[in-house]
Amino acid sequence: MRKYNFLLVMLVAILAISCSQSSSDTQVSNLGTKWHWDKGTIVIETPERPTGQTSVIGLKAPKMEFVRVGFVGLGMRGPAAVERFTYIPGVEIVALCDYEKERAEECQKLLKKASMPEATVYSGEKGYEELCKRDDIDLVYIATDWLHHFPVAMCAMENGKHTAIEVPSAMSLKECWALIDMSEKTRKHCMILENCCYDWFEMNTLNMAQQGVFGEVIRAQGAYIHNLDEFWDYYWKKGKDDKLGWRLEYNMKHRGDVYATHGLGPVAQALNIHRGDRMKTLIAMDTKSVIGKDLVEKRTGETCNDFRNGDHTTTLIRTENGKVIEIQHNVMTSQPYNRLYQLTGTKGLANKYPVEGYALDSNQMSASGMKPKVDNLTSHNFLPENEMKTLVEKYQHPILKKYGEMAKEVGGHGGMDFIMDSRLIYCLQNGLPLDMDVYDLAEWCCLAELGELSMDNNCASVAFPDFTRGEWNKIQGYKHAYATQEEEANSMEKAKTFTKKLKEKNRNKLR
Ligand SMILES: NC(=O)c1ccc[n+]([C@@H]2O[C@H](COP(=O)([O-])OP(=O)(O)OC[C@H]3O[C@@H](n4cnc5c(N)ncnc54)[C@H](O)[C@@H]3O)[C@@H](O)[C@H]2O)c1
Repeated sequence: MRKYNFLLVMLVAILAISCSQSSSDTQVSNLGTKWHWDKGTIVIETPERPTGQTSVIGLKAPKMEFVRVGFVGLGMRGPAAVERFTYIPGVEIVALCDYEKERAEECQKLLKKASMPEATVYSGEKGYEELCKRDDIDLVYIATDWLHHFPVAMCAMENGKHTAIEVPSAMSLKECWALIDMSEKTRKHCMILENCCYDWFEMNTLNMAQQGVFGEVIRAQGAYIHNLDEFWDYYWKKGKDDKLGWRLEYNMKHRGDVYATHGLGPVAQALNIHRGDRMKTLIAMDTKSVIGKDLVEKRTGETCNDFRNGDHTTTLIRTENGKVIEIQHNVMTSQPYNRLYQLTGTKGLANKYPVEGYALDSNQMSASGMKPKVDNLTSHNFLPENEMKTLVEKYQHPILKKYGEMAKEVGGHGGMDFIMDSRLIYCLQNGLPLDMDVYDLAEWCCLAELGELSMDNNCASVAFPDFTRGEWNKIQGYKHAYATQEEEANSMEKAKTFTKKLKEKNRNKLR
């Protein structure tokens, strides 16, 4: 009898252990993501592609002679985008929308200044829904606070519009997948507005990297290090009880690199992410929050015991092809603005902040088609100024050649914002794939939630989901799409004629 009792106890114990094991197998993150451990790595499952959907890699939409745009979110950032679009031929600004009516109405002045017709104004929490339902809008351009990017973009695509979303364009894995599914289902573009991909140093360096100037690029760094002290009080507040504003509140509630894409976007392009390589695993680590907590306490008058976002967050990523990317985020401490942007190649190095420079030796300069004036160049130092100048001239990116001068006149972070917008409209007018697709959006924005998972689990390694669902290796090498010269001239002619007529019609109406 005692023997049977012992066996029974053993059986119950084994059952209890196996039950507790299976219930702890799948865990759920703060943002509702299901994950499990696999040999010490946190693994998130890739949801199956719903039937009837196919990939939007290389998605082309029919050519548009002109592009009719609705803007949603007109706070500090949005109005400058409206203004930039008044300089792009073949664009009509049809609608302006902000939660605060006056902000949308204020932008009419920008249209007036450009002799363009007034746009329809939408406002309130759900004003964007009416805007998205219109049948005379092709593109919805979103520059709201972070929590509204997703509902507006989903609504836009559901209603048959292409969408372009400010950064970060998605705040969780759930949002990343939903945007991918919606873009695949509707065949509408869903672009991340990552302007730093269009800055001068980044574009020229991308061109150099693509032509082998640095050998094989094996490591890259990027960052958003920008003390936002002078901005915190100007972010939109929803009513008088909102003491923090959306951005500080978001940082208070969320750990991880919540603003990764300025650093990650340009280096991901240089490393051909989902065009022959993919980000495979990451680990993240942050400092404690000192300044974040203090900012909250000053504004609420109460003790803040839980400010989730560390003052400085570092994320390390390893790719399928054995490359490493380091991304940093710090919007708190006193230090100079810095996006790092460094590419380490087997034969040379490019570095943007704090000092722009290229390190290449004489052999590599010659192999890159240069005739160095100094024949004892070593890669121990950055190139002398004149050597760097000739290198940059030789490798000036064709997109900068085309838009650079105009971009400097129109402005927007020195012109890069205008180049980004011009490329978006160019690709739509010429029926080309956009420079950044919804998979880029997801890969760059998922760093926040994956980093949070890592840090909440003792900085464990986290596996990236494959947002392309198996197609990351289909295209080899990142490329910008171009129309032929003839097609380009044709579409530009039509675009200019459209804008001329639009302005004439408006002037006649006002007479
Ligand atoms: N790419 C860049 O260099 C860059 C620079 C600055 C800001 N940004 C991004 O631009 C976005 C806006 O930033 P900001 O500095 O202008 O913030 P902001 O707080 O000044 O503006 C946000 C605006 O969104 C509006 N809004 C809120 N809910 C809305 C709704 N339901 N419908 C319509 N409008 C709504 C608010 O009224 C406010 O005017 C953010 O995503 C930010 O990260 C990007």
